[in-house]
Amino acid sequence: MKYDKINSNLFKENRARFVAQMKPNSIAIIHSNDMMSRNGDTHFAYRQSSDLFYLTGLDQEEVILVLYPDCPRGNQFKEIVFTKATNEHIAVWEGYKYTKEDASQTAGISTVFWLDEQQPLLNELILLAERIYVNTNENDRAVLDYPSRDVRHALALKKEYVGHHFERAQPIFKNLRMIKSSYEIDLMQKACDITNSAFRRVLATTQPGMTEYEVEANIIYEFTRQGSSGHAYTPIIAGGSNACVLHYIANDQVLKAGDLILMDFGAEYANYAADLSRTIPVNGRFTPRQKAVYNAVLRVKRAAENLLVVGNNLADYHKEVGRIMESELINLGLLNKDAVRHQNPSRPLYKKYFMHGTSHHLGLDVHDLCHRYVDFAPGMVFTCEPGIYIPEENIGIRIEDDLVVTNGKPLNLMADIPIEVEEIELLMQAKV
Ligand code: GLY
Ligand code: MN
Ligand code: MN
Repeated sequence: MKYDKINSNLFKENRARFVAQMKPNSIAIIHSNDMMSRNGDTHFAYRQSSDLFYLTGLDQEEVILVLYPDCPRGNQFKEIVFTKATNEHIAVWEGYKYTKEDASQTAGISTVFWLDEQQPLLNELILLAERIYVNTNENDRAVLDYPSRDVRHALALKKEYVGHHFERAQPIFKNLRMIKSSYEIDLMQKACDITNSAFRRVLATTQPGMTEYEVEANIIYEFTRQGSSGHAYTPIIAGGSNACVLHYIANDQVLKAGDLILMDFGAEYANYAADLSRTIPVNGRFTPRQKAVYNAVLRVKRAAENLLVVGNNLADYHKEVGRIMESELINLGLLNKDAVRHQNPSRPLYKKYFMHGTSHHLGLDVHDLCHRYVDFAPGMVFTCEPGIYIPEENIGIRIEDDLVVTNGKPLNLMADIPIEVEEIELLMQAKV
C-alpha cells in the first residue's frame, strides 16, 4: 500500500461497535468490491468497498468478512476473514497478495481462511444463526447500475436459506461511519495536508496560457509523490465560465489572463477523502469585482462553518446559510431586496446564483454514508462549500473546507490551506 500501516485497533473498535448493534444470534456477511473490467483484458484501478475497509482495513479484492458474535461453535468463529489464496504463479504475475498472517495482522482477526475453504463452514454457521445481515449500497444519491458482490451473494443466500430472517447492514454502517474516531480524523488530516501541498504547487505554477489539464497534472504529481492513491473524486479545473458548470470535468481548455479558475479536488489517503475548492485568478490578481464576489463567498463560508455545531441539523443549517447568502447577493447587486421580500419561500431567489447544498458528510466516500435527518454530533466531518455563480459576468466562485464537529467550535482540517485574497495573490506572484 502507498499509505503507512494503520493501527488495527481502528478496525477492531469498528467491529466492536458494529456487532453491538446486531440483533441476537445473527451472522453478518460483508464482501469486498469487484475488480471492474475496463476494456480487453484490463481492469480499472481497484478501490475497496468502504464498508469492508471500515471493518477490516483489508485493501484487496475477493475478501469476505463474517461476524457472528453469538456463535455457539467457539470464539474463533465469531470473526472470520476469507481471502483469495495466493501462490507462486499469482506472486509472479500480480505481485504481493495477503498471506493469512498478513490479513490477520491487518484486520486484527485471528481466524483467516482461503476463499475455497468457505464451505462447509459457512453453511454450518448460517444454519446455527437465526438472522443474516446482508450489505447493499444505501447511499440515497447512488445510481446502481449493476449488482455488487454483496448483492449477488445476498440474492443467492435468500434463495438458499428461505427460512432465515434477513437484516440490512447499512443502517448500522450509517450510524457508525457518520462519527469519525480519532484514528480516522488523523487519516483525513493527512489527506487534507496532501491536498494543501497540491494547491500550493498550483499557486506557484499557474500562468495564463496553461491548459486546465496542466493544472490537473501539477495536482496529481503532488498527490502521488506523497503516498495518495490519487483523486478522491474526479477533479474540476474550470477556467472562466466553465466554473458555472457545476460538474465540469473536461478540464481541457486554455486559461486566460483576467479569468478565474475554480478548482475542486481532493486527495485520497488510505481510502479517506479530502474535498477542497479554491478559486484563484489566472494571472495572479483578482479584479475588484472578482474580489468583491470572492469575499462575499468567504464571509458566507465563515458564517456557515460556525453553524456546524452539536444540535444543529442539515435542514435548519441549509435554511440559515440560504438567508446569509441572500443578504450577500443583495449587497453585490445581484438580487433585489423587495423581490426577495416577496419571493416564494419554497423557491428562494438566491438559488439562481447558489444552486447547490452547502455541506455534506465526508469520510471514506466523498459524499459519505449518513442518515440525513439526525442532529450534528461530535466526530461528524462536513464540507462547507458555498459558491456564487454568475455566468453573465464570467465568474464562478466556490470555496470549500472540511471541518470536524466537536463539543466546541468546529475543527477545520484545512485551516492551513491559503484562502484570503491577499495570501493567494502573494503566493501566485512568488512563482518559481
Ligand atoms: N467535490 C464534490 C463536492 O464538492 O461535493
Ligand atoms: Mn468539492
Ligand atoms: Mn464537497
